[in-house]
Amino acid sequence: MEVVPLGSAAEIAAVAADVVEAVVRRKPAAVLGLATGSTPLPAYRELIRRHEAGLGPSYAAVTCFNLDEYVGLPEPEIHEQSYRATIARELTDGLGIRPDQVNGPDPSPDSLPTAGERYEALIARAGGVDVQFLGIGSDGHLAFNEPGSSLASRTRIKTLTAQTRKDNARFFGSPDEVPSHVLTQGLGTILEARHLLLIATGEGKADAVAAFAEGPVTASCPASVLQLHPHVTVLLDPAAAAGLNRLAYYREVYAAKPAWQGL
Ligand code: PGA
Repeated sequence: MEVVPLGSAAEIAAVAADVVEAVVRRKPAAVLGLATGSTPLPAYRELIRRHEAGLGPSYAAVTCFNLDEYVGLPEPEIHEQSYRATIARELTDGLGIRPDQVNGPDPSPDSLPTAGERYEALIARAGGVDVQFLGIGSDGHLAFNEPGSSLASRTRIKTLTAQTRKDNARFFGSPDEVPSHVLTQGLGTILEARHLLLIATGEGKADAVAAFAEGPVTASCPASVLQLHPHVTVLLDPAAAAGLNRLAYYREVYAAKPAWQGL
């Protein structure tokens, strides 16, 4: 795991955009894994800014997979808080990526029992995810794999914790309006992406960051499973990095990084 302490959310956005653009330049038909939440938004805006300025690569041939989706929203295809609508609004529309290039778990009530395996098959058919954006919950969740999730889990339905519903209430009217169920890629699914790019910002993430990066690998902190992946980049602002014991070492490693190596 490469932990990269950076100076600000703006600096993180630029580094994350560089990573994604490099993948798409190298492989125009790249498969991008997308996350919702507040954390990736500066990176998404930076990608759109560069695209609109004619500086970015073409996204015409990419395929995207969303990490998760709420279950139980009315009219999920168009509900403004559905993750399908959120990703379109915050990123893919701005990059000229068509809706049919973007996949998400299917929350239709009648087909929920098979939604997980169908989504796994779609990802496999696309050849797997090249670069996956990730955030982290204040309770250590990864996508919507809440504490206690199997470290080998696959895409399936999960029940959100009260803490996560509280954290996400800002997007709705109140915690009661946040759906209690979601479809989420499993931890085992996420581990199959070739490069994982986790971003954490703000002091509310400091404990979860210290736990997943320096604590034991345990289902009690689902993001700690990233310690088992060979290519993880963790981009942190100073507040999110504040609880790390090896912070000075991570800074030293990044400062001394060979130019040819990249992230
Ligand atoms: P956030 O959510 O980016 O809105 O903090 C992250 C997450 O819950 O995984």
